[in-house]
Amino acid sequence: SLVHKLRGLIPLEVYLAEKMGLDRVHIVPGDIDQDPKVLKELGKLAGRFIRDVVQDDWVIAVTGGTTMSEVAHHIPPMVPGKNRVLVVPARGGLGEQVEIQANTIAAGIAQRLGASYRLLHVPDNLHGDKMENLLTDVRVQEIISLNKGANLLIHGIGVPEEMAQRRGIDWQEFLRQAPRLPVGEAFGYYFAEDGSVVGVTPTVGPKLEDLVKLNMVMAVAGGKSKAQAIMAVVKRGFIDVLITDQGAAEAMQQRL
Ligand code: G3H
Repeated sequence: SLVHKLRGLIPLEVYLAEKMGLDRVHIVPGDIDQDPKVLKELGKLAGRFIRDVVQDDWVIAVTGGTTMSEVAHHIPPMVPGKNRVLVVPARGGLGEQVEIQANTIAAGIAQRLGASYRLLHVPDNLHGDKMENLLTDVRVQEIISLNKGANLLIHGIGVPEEMAQRRGIDWQEFLRQAPRLPVGEAFGYYFAEDGSVVGVTPTVGPKLEDLVKLNMVMAVAGGKSKAQAIMAVVKRGFIDVLITDQGAAEAMQQRL
């Protein structure tokens, strides 16, 4: 039964949390790479966690991606009595499909929670002067400062080459410029195996130095193929809670 499968994963949750320096690890049975239905379970588990921890007046910051989209779809309705919760996107638009953009996900999570949301109606991938101009906009600044004070940040973790492809970044060129091989990605930062940052794509969202200060950062990512990516981002040290699947968890255990 599902309960047995879940119980059987508890020792692995405890082991990974301890070995990886995380407050909590939660694992759903199965492997997204083998069975796409597991992604839905991952979304549900993350959704339950969010519903259980959120408090009155909280600001929740969220990124985009297919995993976060699943969280938005499966978050259970809020227990009544939580007031003035606000959900904000941690990134602007990336030219990806609208369903997986941080804005869409912020709105979706807010609706499920009965919370309010704000949007970041700006492109996230501008360079130089254009980005600096954008950052002078008061509405943009407001969302950025809400992000910096977020009580909970929830984000996906990507496999760099896939992310580059999805976002129209020239991977070969990106690799040439990176001092070491990027193996994990989160909110536009690319990390090497040891957690060092080896590439950044422009973002109006929170900077790494802002994220490390946040109280509760939750990463949601699963599938054996993401094990290395998850480990690299966790190494950086800003993640508190990891929601993952058995496929990724067992692959990580083997690498530890
Ligand atoms: O930043 C991380 C990526 O958004 C993860 O995307 O959930 O579609 O794999 P994904």
